[in-house]
Amino acid sequence: MSALTSLRAAAKPAVADFDPLHWRRDFPILGQKVHGKPLIYLDNAATAQKPQSVIDAVAQFYSQSNSNVHRGVHALSERATAQYEAARAKVRDFLHAASTCEIVFTRGTTESLNLIAQSYGRSHLRAGDEIILSHLEHHSNIVPWQLLAEQLHLDIKVIPITDTGELLPGAYEHLFSPRTRLVALAHVSNALGTLNPVREMTAIAHRHHALVVLDGAQAVPHLPVDVQELDCDFYAFSGHKLFGPTGIGVLYGREALLAEMPPWQGGGDMIRTVRFSGSTWNELPYKFEAGTPHIAGAIGLGAAIEYLNAVGMDNIAHYDRELLGYGARELQRIQGLKLIGTAPHKAGVLSFVMQGVHPHDIGTIVDQEGVAIRTGHHCAMPVMERFGIPATARASLAFYNTRADLDALVAALGKVREVFR
Ligand code: ALA
Repeated sequence: MSALTSLRAAAKPAVADFDPLHWRRDFPILGQKVHGKPLIYLDNAATAQKPQSVIDAVAQFYSQSNSNVHRGVHALSERATAQYEAARAKVRDFLHAASTCEIVFTRGTTESLNLIAQSYGRSHLRAGDEIILSHLEHHSNIVPWQLLAEQLHLDIKVIPITDTGELLPGAYEHLFSPRTRLVALAHVSNALGTLNPVREMTAIAHRHHALVVLDGAQAVPHLPVDVQELDCDFYAFSGHKLFGPTGIGVLYGREALLAEMPPWQGGGDMIRTVRFSGSTWNELPYKFEAGTPHIAGAIGLGAAIEYLNAVGMDNIAHYDRELLGYGARELQRIQGLKLIGTAPHKAGVLSFVMQGVHPHDIGTIVDQEGVAIRTGHHCAMPVMERFGIPATARASLAFYNTRADLDALVAALGKVREVFR
């Protein structure tokens, strides 16, 4: 962490005094102009920007400590190992997991979910078993289960969603049968922003003796997460959406479950012994970390978590709700604009369509005004199908965004209206 950043981080403000501009200064990329206009970055659900302390942590690792972990007896290797394992401890505390054994570093949410499907799924599920998903899942929480279902002849059941983008109350529990083994759910929908009642849904699944996998990619940047309080069995998230580097992610799993799961990928570091007559596996969590990991990525993620601890996840959650409410009110003033996803409990996302304008045209025109949003199906084609649309425009927020950013989006959408009268 740079001296300036650590000074600011030490001065954690109370919720009522939360000042996004105070924190925004720590994000060097946000100071630039795009097409001659100040950059307004509203594509945080795709990837979030990085504070200087994360950039410094990665640069410092490569310039001072670069070495492989768990392998060397020399000073650099010991330093790299200590930093890598310190990052794991920061993730454990961030998720309030019981042990660092439960924190596996992966490439991201997608790899974490594939790991569960291929390791837990292949070893524990049988033909005719059932998995419950929801209609608002990202493709990465659908396709790994479809691949598994094809391999093992499983059935997938889907929780429907309402016109507001909420999981249909009452429908969920009816999907359970004595063959239901697993429920995989987004904590927060990337396409709609819906915050699902995952604690209650986990309790229901457990009453039916099914395990619960939560895709937390869009939740962790917006709200405090406590895996013990949620009581979920697995929780996955990506570093790059949490203001950390790309290519690093996390799988949390209950220790007892991870302990009985077979390795997913084989290679260095995940073994205890290798002989041609057979190999044995390393202890947790290394059994699931084959090959040289993304050491700098993990250290950068640890720095991002340290930074977020200074900002305060409660402050972020409170501010996100306030900013989202403001954005929804302002967008709805625009003639012909319709918000897609209007659940009362949401986080971080404003998805919308405009009458007579393709979302890609919206994205291109607002980009000319310096406003970065994402347009498309957001890797959630079933959501688009449910609403009968090919795509949406999506503004997604971070704690460094302001009401002025949303005013700039609204002004840019005024230009879209001028073009498409
Ligand atoms: N899953 C990311 C998004 O929602 C890429 O944009």
